[in-house]
Amino acid sequence: MADWSRIEALPKERLEALFAADEGRLARLSLDVAGIHFDWSKTHLTGDAIAAFEALAKEADLAGRREAMFGGKNINTTEDRPVEHTAERGEGKTESVQRAGMQHARMRAVIDAIEAEAFGPVRSILHVGIGGSALGPHLLVDALGRESDRYDVAIVSNVDGMALQDVFDRFDPATTLLVVASKTFTTTETMMNADSVIAWMQDAGVEDPYGRVIALTAAPDKAVEWGVDETRVLGFGEGVGGRYSLWSAIGFPAAVKLGWDQFEELLEGAAEMDRHFRLSALHENAPALAAFADLYYTQVRRCETRAPFAYDERLRLLPSYLQQLEMESNGKGVTIDGQPVGRPTAPITWGGVGTDAQHAVFQLLHQGTHLVPVEFLAVIEAGDALDPEHHRQLLLNAFAQGAALMKGKQADDPARSYPGDRPSSTLLLDRLDARTLGALIAFYEHRVFVSGVLLGINSFDQFGVELGKEMAKAAAKGGGDFDPSTTDLIARAGLA
Ligand code: F6P
Repeated sequence: MADWSRIEALPKERLEALFAADEGRLARLSLDVAGIHFDWSKTHLTGDAIAAFEALAKEADLAGRREAMFGGKNINTTEDRPVEHTAERGEGKTESVQRAGMQHARMRAVIDAIEAEAFGPVRSILHVGIGGSALGPHLLVDALGRESDRYDVAIVSNVDGMALQDVFDRFDPATTLLVVASKTFTTTETMMNADSVIAWMQDAGVEDPYGRVIALTAAPDKAVEWGVDETRVLGFGEGVGGRYSLWSAIGFPAAVKLGWDQFEELLEGAAEMDRHFRLSALHENAPALAAFADLYYTQVRRCETRAPFAYDERLRLLPSYLQQLEMESNGKGVTIDGQPVGRPTAPITWGGVGTDAQHAVFQLLHQGTHLVPVEFLAVIEAGDALDPEHHRQLLLNAFAQGAALMKGKQADDPARSYPGDRPSSTLLLDRLDARTLGALIAFYEHRVFVSGVLLGINSFDQFGVELGKEMAKAAAKGGGDFDPSTTDLIARAGLA
């Protein structure tokens, strides 16, 4: 078990004192990688803290684990699988990179067929999937697809019929393609939504609705059994985890919406971050430094949450994407050997969009009793064509909030005092394009990996989601051994 005592014993100085004591602080704690400027100088990381984390990383064999991941070893031991999302962007075991390349070629061929009207005129793509089979593609389409008029893409995840109904109201079944995205091809919500889309097409008189389905899955046999012709089943490897899968066939709706060249740019941006993560020393390694700050706040300051705020509408879905990535990966209670971890694991990720959040939740950040490490994301180049004053205000607000959290303000009236010394990091993107977004998402993936290794946990399984699913399935069949409260709720809703 790794020794955290050196980290726990680090002096707890105020941020402003850290700046005053070290002229080189900003340079030491900021980095530029792949079009992203990272600034951790307003966190409590110091040279000593980084050295202590580097020692911990050595003890935890971070370098060995990283090579094992890129080398395609079965590091997801509880499921006896490799972790191969990096192979999707060309960084990994040779055979896996080659297989991903072939799968991407098939994806591209299907997109070419759609563009060539092999399915007749296609106006809209209705993608059904949930969790990792929806959040990633949705983020990509929302962040990068605003100016593309190529196709209308809707991503539906919830089993709540309202979600699908909204799309049925605006799409024409005759010019819609159904994309069914499910790694396992067994997920209840996705299969129920897929069946309902087929019924919608049938009711509208669409001939051969199954001929208008594209399946994205690591279980091709199940997709064929459900009714999709194998020529329209786009596969990916078992080693690509759901929440790490947007680089694979699961990214199909984004590739359709943005065009293949943009999808390749996304992969290349991610590959650039992969190489940075793999080859840089830890004290100048963006994912590692971010993970060190995360761990400092959870382990030393016992922060229970962390909050990314996107000061850019195009990144409004990033916080929900990160919730799955971070909480499903590192929200664990046992080590990779099955022992209790004995310390906090993933913080709760929450967040929102600036400047809206300033008028809603920032009160707590400035004066509340919880210490919340904040992460500001902003983009130098504006995405809109309005008066540049909009973007100027947006960015200045992001930077001013970070400054205010750190500086605080004393006043005679306690209600008007700000304690200050509240940490934030800033990620400033040159521009929001496919390449930079690819690098940004890969940065978050590797940051999660570093935290997982230092905590000694397996970031790549998710057994915690199974029990609730099993119980819902039992209830749907009219069974299940439920407590009095749940039994009463089922009866009250008329579901018994
Ligand atoms: O329930 C959690 C989960 O297994 C996620 O890990 C996954 O991204 C999601 O469900 C969807 O799974 P699938 O892609 O197999 O439908």
